[in-house]
Amino acid sequence: MKQGGSDAAKRAAGESAAEAVEDGMVVGLGTGSTAAHAIRAIGRAVDAGLDVVGVPTSFQSRELARDCGIPLADLDDASVDLAIDGADEVAGGDLVKGGGAAHAREKVVDASADRFIVVADPTKEADVLAHPVPVEVLPMARSTVAEAVEALDGDPDLRRAARKDGPVVTDNGNLVLDCDFGAIEDPAALAGRLSETPGVVAHGLFVGLADEVHVGTDDGVSVRD
Ligand code: 5RP
Repeated sequence: MKQGGSDAAKRAAGESAAEAVEDGMVVGLGTGSTAAHAIRAIGRAVDAGLDVVGVPTSFQSRELARDCGIPLADLDDASVDLAIDGADEVAGGDLVKGGGAAHAREKVVDASADRFIVVADPTKEADVLAHPVPVEVLPMARSTVAEAVEALDGDPDLRRAARKDGPVVTDNGNLVLDCDFGAIEDPAALAGRLSETPGVVAHGLFVGLADEVHVGTDDGVSVRD
């Protein structure tokens, strides 16, 4: 997993993206340590009088947003103007997401947004996606999906909880297979094959979804369209 970026770089990216939030917006609130910096910055702006509503992408982002005083809604009541979310790997407008096992809800919120800003540090950048792809599966389909992934020349690995004797369980009650495909030369084709596999709830390939990428460093931010 690419988790090596500095907190200063993550903060620079998150705070840069938060500057795009305008009064009256509905904002998709991503998951992870970089998106958390954006949520905290939005919370400070709300304290200062900004009128926004957040749509969280996970239990984690919901709790943080509540702590920060950001009013919340769900997608039945609001349509998202701007989503801000992190990534495990970025190649152009294509992403691998799901390091926090939140990619199913993240994809729904991020794809629904009028504008989707990815926040990342330089360790996430790549020419070609090669990060293992998190695949959320129905628990009863864990073995059949693993076989389908192997048939696609992938190497599936059930994600296990770091400090517990058991698998990671998503906010949706499902399991995650981290699937190593090596270099992914055609992300759209692989995304299609994974999506059509019975038992797959959501995979972490976000193909062509990013409108902008804000890459933070210890010294500043560069914005890529
Ligand atoms: C969660 C995600 C995260 O956005 C991704 O793992 C990046 O996290 P971080 O900013 O902590 O490196 O996809 O499912």
